[in-house]
Amino acid sequence: MEANAAIFEVLLNKEDAMISDRLVHASIVDGMRLSKAQLFNYKHNNMSHLEEKLQETQNCRFRMIITDGVFSMDGDMAKLDEICNLADKYDAMVMVDDSHASGFIGKTGRGTHEHFGVMGRIDAITTTLGKALGGATGGCISGRKEIVDLCRQRARPYLFSNTVPPVVVAASIKVIDLISKTTERRDKLERNTKYFREKMTKAGLDIKEGETPIVPVMLYNAKLAQDVARDMYAEGIYVIGFFFPVVAQGQARIRTQISADHEIEHIDKAVAAFTKVGARYNILGKKRDEIIAMYGM
Ligand SMILES: Cc1ncc(COP(=O)(O)O)c(C=O)c1O
Repeated sequence: MEANAAIFEVLLNKEDAMISDRLVHASIVDGMRLSKAQLFNYKHNNMSHLEEKLQETQNCRFRMIITDGVFSMDGDMAKLDEICNLADKYDAMVMVDDSHASGFIGKTGRGTHEHFGVMGRIDAITTTLGKALGGATGGCISGRKEIVDLCRQRARPYLFSNTVPPVVVAASIKVIDLISKTTERRDKLERNTKYFREKMTKAGLDIKEGETPIVPVMLYNAKLAQDVARDMYAEGIYVIGFFFPVVAQGQARIRTQISADHEIEHIDKAVAAFTKVGARYNILGKKRDEIIAMYGM
């Protein structure tokens, strides 16, 4: 949160343009509000719309393309290879929030930029120490040396608030050491994710396609999402229904996240519970329109 609150105000002013994906995380939206730069957005993951915005902003001093690496609600990835090509073509910077990727996306878990083969082409990456890195709090900005130097001089949350607790710093450094030595845990997470996605699809749940461990189970109706979550809890599985305003109206869902700590029996138990509860609400094998026809949006 604080990394996103810091970065835009430091780097950009009213002569500049921030061009963000429409589904960026709320903390990016808040961070952009703190900057005087002009605000533009493009349709989610729509590269031709992004290109239009880059053309529109050629008169600005700097342009920054702003995106999540893995999107927090849908679990899909930004097309960073295409984004970097557009950034080169239109002389823009690229900023990525990789909070849902750091530690496990990419062959060695470095993040979405590794997955897309664009390491070294992203100007700034913000991330949290609180998700895969396990510290539960804290975050950072990494990137080109000049950007980091400027942030150290000018980033208000860094200058005017207490530091990340030393115990979290020490634990996070240890975690980074561990995951730098072996890809065992990210490999297991990848296997677990694949297994869960396949089983859920086979069971007839309507999950969002993708390859990341964020696996949204689509229910479309807010009450249905809460009812299914409550019944899942009774089956021993803790999941949470997300609905407006966390996601758009009519996009209610249960967002599941797979972990490297899960064993196959845990995943089987979760799928069995989804199957049992899904049958109770008659949603197995049903897609968006059929579920909406039964429950509304
Ligand atoms: C994409 C993204 N960025 C930033 C944050 C904020 O991270 P933190 O909880 O460390 O403030 C979150 C947390 O939900 C997130 O999902």
